[in-house]
Amino acid sequence: MQNGRNDTTIGNNANTGDVKGDILIDIGSGPTIYQLLSACEKFNKIIVSDYADRNRQELEKWLKKGPGAFDWTLVVKYVCKLEGQR
Ligand SMILES: C[S@@+](CC[C@H](N)C(=O)[O-])C[C@H]1O[C@@H](n2cnc3c(N)ncnc32)[C@H](O)[C@@H]1O
Repeated sequence: MQNGRNDTTIGNNANTGDVKGDILIDIGSGPTIYQLLSACEKFNKIIVSDYADRNRQELEKWLKKGPGAFDWTLVVKYVCKLEGQR
């Protein structure tokens, strides 16, 4: 998946055309999930990966709602607004 670097690409990464499937594997996710937001309703499972332990730990902290986990709520709302349908 292309990484979103501006509003247009964040909102359209996987929300146009027929990009969908069972499993999406994001290689080099970093510590972030914003790049996956447009895909989360198009794929049943999303696998994140990263070379760096620290990035994987950050993602795991978010997944488990651990203390200090980044709150993506505002970003999720923004992407939903851009997509105009959720
Ligand atoms: C430029 S960052 C992009 C992070 C995120 N995808 C984004 O769009 O914000 C690239 C990431 O890829 C990871 N990376 C680099 N080489 C990798 C490899 N061979 N396998 C997995 N991850 C890798 C780095 O640790 C880094 O977090």
